Amino acid sequence: MTNLVEMSHISKAFGGSKALHSVSLDLKAGSIHALMGENGAGKSTLMKILAGVHQPDSGEIFMSGEKLDLKSPRAALDAGISTVFQEHSLLPNLSIAENMFLGREPTTRFGSIDYPAMKR
Ligand SMILES: Nc1ncnc2c1ncn2[C@@H]1O[C@H](COP(=O)(O)OP(=O)(O)OP(=O)(O)O)[C@@H](O)[C@H]1O
Ligand SMILES: [Mg+2]
Repeated sequence: MTNLVEMSHISKAFGGSKALHSVSLDLKAGSIHALMGENGAGKSTLMKILAGVHQPDSGEIFMSGEKLDLKSPRAALDAGISTVFQEHSLLPNLSIAENMFLGREPTTRFGSIDYPAMKR
């Protein structure tokens, strides 16, 4: 079975502190994966790189065998990579659907939020 997403030899340092040292992660289509590690192991950093929030210092990301260049969160979204961040980033005044579609709400042809589409 081919990998849907492949992160290959990803390294990332913040100043002098090395957060990721040549980390590789393969994700299979239709599977649920758990990324585990102690506090500060680099889990969030790896996911932020996949979400286009951080740029890796080295390493490559592939989707269905094609190399991705995730320069921004928008580029990751366009590639079909969507992130639900940890609880502190949820907006309690919005519905679950609104939280899920935050910043990429489907719109009607008049430019307003398409709630039925979101609900579907
Ligand atoms: N924006 C940043 N600037 C500087 N250092 C950072 C930054 N983000 C993460 N780090 C450092 O990188 C390392 C990995 O942090 P990261 O948040 O990815 O770990 P984590 O596995 O998600 O930890 P936790 O289980 O606490 O969520 C830590 O040493 C952290 O201090
Ligand atoms: Mg974390």
